[in-house]
Amino acid sequence: MIGDRTLLDDWHAVARTGDVVRGQPSVARLLEEDLLLWRSPRGVEAWLDRCPHRGAKLSLGRIHGGRVVCPYHGLEYEADGRCVRVPAHPDRPPPGQARATRFRTTERYGLLWVCLGEPIRDVPPMPESDDKGYWVHVAGRYEISTSGYRAIENFLDLAHFPFVHPGLLGEASHPEVADYDVEVTSDGMVVDNARFWQPKPTNTIDLDGIDVSYRYHVPRPLTARLTKDIGLRSAGGDVKREAIMLTFAPIDEESGIGWVLLASNYDEQYGEEEIEAFTDLVIGQDLRIIESQRPKRLPIRGTDEFSLPADRASVHYRRWLRSLGVTYGTV
Ligand code: FES
Ligand code: FE
Repeated sequence: MIGDRTLLDDWHAVARTGDVVRGQPSVARLLEEDLLLWRSPRGVEAWLDRCPHRGAKLSLGRIHGGRVVCPYHGLEYEADGRCVRVPAHPDRPPPGQARATRFRTTERYGLLWVCLGEPIRDVPPMPESDDKGYWVHVAGRYEISTSGYRAIENFLDLAHFPFVHPGLLGEASHPEVADYDVEVTSDGMVVDNARFWQPKPTNTIDLDGIDVSYRYHVPRPLTARLTKDIGLRSAGGDVKREAIMLTFAPIDEESGIGWVLLASNYDEQYGEEEIEAFTDLVIGQDLRIIESQRPKRLPIRGTDEFSLPADRASVHYRRWLRSLGVTYGTV
């Protein structure tokens, strides 16, 4: 197990909940651990994908009668992890060590979240998911070949819009980044009053280019959520808002899985396929660049990278990660 408690004791989204189906083993890899995912009678289970008898992968076995059956010697494990049957010795009670390693799980926002340690907080908040006025959509899974910190830092970066997302989130004729506010609180990092001119600020409404207001909340090191106000009001005066959460589940220090949760209270709704296609396009544009960054681990302790005023969010993010004692995936 890795030594970085900040990540071990946090929740990470490893799969869509719908991908773990009754009667079938699924797999995931999180923080260098192979996981077996399966649906027991009482909920989704995430186990270390290793039989404690001789180390075979349990995911190669079967789910049968609400139990996991190891593919090697057929030991059967109950949902609480206890071995309850040893085919070679049907009349002997299984040894006490014959117990699978289980991790905490929870299903939220259409995703399955796993904590390998002791969770100190709840899953990162996405308030729109409980608000009937919003639709919420999950995009991903995106396999990303860099540290999660590079990906989150890119999510907080305004200055790249005209160059990486031309014609969508920015335009070379409007590259200026105005000053914005950054604050670190006990609840994470907040970037506010960030304004940026965008030619096509949303995938769901056709608008000519406008100045868009961004607010970012980074509640956990590998989860960030932005709300975007495009200056529209409903007939009742409600602000039309879009919220986007990026959460990154590390596979190792230089790769992982990204998920994007999109929520909006716009009346105009495009189909899921169009929303997903737009997100795939934007993420693809980002990946080309962020996977090229070297080092892949985020430099947070002394670096030969330099910062500009537009990088204030990044500078605070790096400082905040240092204050949290984060080491894994950084240099
Ligand atoms: Fe699993 Fe032997 S390794 S039953
Ligand atoms: Fe981008």
